[in-house]
Amino acid sequence: MNRSSGAVPDVNKPDVIGATPPGAQDKSAAAKAVREMFTSIAPRYDMLNHVLSMNVDRIWWRRAARTFRQILRRPNARVLDLCCGTGDMTFALRRQARNHSTRIVGADFSHAMLERATGKSQSQNGSAPAWIEADALRLPFPDAHFDLVTSAFGFRNLADYDAGLREIVRILRADGECGILDFGEPRGAVGALYRLYFKQVLPRIGTLISGVRGPYKYLPASVERFPAPEQMLERMKRAGLRDVTWTAYSLGIAGLYRGRK
Ligand SMILES: C[S@@+](CC[C@H](N)C(=O)[O-])C[C@H]1O[C@@H](n2cnc3c(N)ncnc32)[C@H](O)[C@@H]1O
Repeated sequence: MNRSSGAVPDVNKPDVIGATPPGAQDKSAAAKAVREMFTSIAPRYDMLNHVLSMNVDRIWWRRAARTFRQILRRPNARVLDLCCGTGDMTFALRRQARNHSTRIVGADFSHAMLERATGKSQSQNGSAPAWIEADALRLPFPDAHFDLVTSAFGFRNLADYDAGLREIVRILRADGECGILDFGEPRGAVGALYRLYFKQVLPRIGTLISGVRGPYKYLPASVERFPAPEQMLERMKRAGLRDVTWTAYSLGIAGLYRGRK
């Protein structure tokens, strides 16, 4: 399914500012809680991702990266993967780029997640992505620097979605593109099954394997709070993006938001 902007929001969600992990009273407390949460699960993050998604996550990263292959294969293209975590989306972009002149940077504010990414990229010689520890809401890059900015399953965790979008627009060149891959909430029978799995089964397995209680309860709650596609597309337009679309992946369990500066 492909939705462009302009449609009336079909889900009546409140206009949330950003992620609010339990106990966080303001944006800086929310960001701190998110960073600590990912740092605490970093050692088991990859394994849990593949188990809990039954390896579908690999298909989603590849599909999202393939969408941008024209930009990725442009000589000297500059690409940023925001909230890169342990780097799997960044590596998917690298594989699609082929072209070694494409400069790919992965940025995340959890040092522990980036350490994993760095470890995984050691075998990639000269074409390995560069890794930068940075907050997505205050990026250390000049205006109009990147041809493409992506984020996979990270944007939803920002403490302020509009500020996150404004920062993406700031660092994109004119005509540059952004791609935000994140979970959605499928409707109908698939939705009911998905909710059962996501809310009842996933938090139990996640807690058991990671040994940490909070993060896998926070995950379904954060997806439930995240703006519905039509609302998110409106926010993208407000931030200065055009040609905005949302494409459902796996019946809407995930989806890719795209926009052009
Ligand atoms: C669910 S993980 C996704 C990692 C990776 N992109 C993937 O697809 O597996 C979310 C990541 O976003 C990062 N993150 C959340 N808020 C951030 C922020 N404000 N700035 C930078 N990174 C952030 C977390 O540290 C975490 O590594």
